[in-house]
Amino acid sequence: MPTATAIINLDIEGPTISRHLYGHFAEHLGRCVYGGFWVGEDSPIPNEGGIRLDVVEALRALDIPNLRWPGGCFADEYHWQDGIGPREQRPRMVNTHWGNVEENNHFGTHEFMALCELLGAEPYISGNVGSGTVREMSEWVEYLTRDGDSPMVRLRKANGREEPWRVRYWGIGNETWGCGGNMRAEYSADLARQYATYCRDHGDNKLYRIASGASEADYKWTETLMQQISCFGCEATPKNFFQGLSVHYYTLSGPWEAKGSATEFTADDHYRTMLSARRIDRILTGHSTVMDVYDPGRTVGLVLDEWGTWWDVEPGTNPGFLFQQNTLRDALVASTHFDIFHKHAARLHMANIAQTVNVLQAMLLTDGDALVLTPTYHVFEMNKGHQDATSLAVHLSADDARRTVDGAELDTLSASASVKDGTVLISLSNLHAEEPTEVTLDLRGGTLGEPAARILTADKLQAHNTPEASAAVSPRAFDGVSVTGGGLRLALPPHSFMTVQAPLN
Ligand code: AHR
Repeated sequence: MPTATAIINLDIEGPTISRHLYGHFAEHLGRCVYGGFWVGEDSPIPNEGGIRLDVVEALRALDIPNLRWPGGCFADEYHWQDGIGPREQRPRMVNTHWGNVEENNHFGTHEFMALCELLGAEPYISGNVGSGTVREMSEWVEYLTRDGDSPMVRLRKANGREEPWRVRYWGIGNETWGCGGNMRAEYSADLARQYATYCRDHGDNKLYRIASGASEADYKWTETLMQQISCFGCEATPKNFFQGLSVHYYTLSGPWEAKGSATEFTADDHYRTMLSARRIDRILTGHSTVMDVYDPGRTVGLVLDEWGTWWDVEPGTNPGFLFQQNTLRDALVASTHFDIFHKHAARLHMANIAQTVNVLQAMLLTDGDALVLTPTYHVFEMNKGHQDATSLAVHLSADDARRTVDGAELDTLSASASVKDGTVLISLSNLHAEEPTEVTLDLRGGTLGEPAARILTADKLQAHNTPEASAAVSPRAFDGVSVTGGGLRLALPPHSFMTVQAPLN
């Protein structure tokens, strides 16, 4: 059996793990919004004002901190004024990015803000730079956040909302290097400055403006943005045009043209996937290194506002709807990402998995009135204690929990730890497809009380949940953790994710 040791320094506190690293993303894409979040007030599916209540209830259990909307690529062809006022009078459009289907704009600003209120999540609105105008974006901020009396405030009130909402997170374009306008970094950086100038802080609503950032390892893009970030000598407060910049990274097991099935894959495909997932560590390091040069005080945030697995769509479904199943492999991609996010918490302010319902690496899959919690959902739930916790230093010695994949080394154990309110939470993933790993948790600088562990695993990596077998992959208690002199010991089953929680003595 492979063995690995994790030294956990209970007295060496790292950065706070922002709860926003557990953020979400809902785009007008396939059945994410329509059928996923939104069924309309006349639906037989229980809803509040058109919003599906089973979805809300499931997501509330995750304590989701924020929700990004309306895209994605869709954001750059979305005109917000089409999505306000009486629904039947709202103009329609074609969603050219996703399936070429007609969008009726029934889910708009008021519906999104109502959804955020039901979820207890902060809104993260992604504004249109690709095909919109500076005025349009500026007015959207005014409509949402201004108090008192103004043209946009009067319009909002006429549409039934008296008080302004609070909106902190504001995206200035999406993938401006691609679907958001096919721009050069220099042009995109100039536009980000221009748009950010007119996205005003109204009253005490302070925006956190997020400039459209790099794809994967495009560090030059990040450098170009960072060179343009400061508003030297101008009267603006804060002095930076934008407070964060984004990066997108998706996990694939092969080339873009042959992404493979979500449910039918080999152990080698799995290891390639894990290698791809682990690449996010180098990518975050690369962008952070560039940002450190221009912002050594780390005031500007890196925002990974799209991440997750991307497989071929399920057979027979619309290729433009990006509907995929979700197996234990996806869960391990998520848990591995979180270990890496915790390590980068000083610079990484936010991360948003793509996407919350029915699209890509979803938390929830719906089929008519049926709702399925995916294995990825369970990782978010089991890990939620890390939100706003203090990260703890973890030194992994993979010993022989390691293998060579396509000429590269892959550690098959992943781990992270944090402490909050006197409770330590340790997350462990065994990425090995077939073998358990003997794990020693060598605790230094303190001791722990009685541990309680939960495990997420199944007989095979391809296991997934369906309406007929909704608990095929679901967490259960694990009683195999033994307390040793200096720590804990356990055998982590193959392809499993585990959390161990214990009071700090
Ligand atoms: O999440 C799906 C799409 O992936 C988003 O719309 C886009 O930003 C990215 O390319």
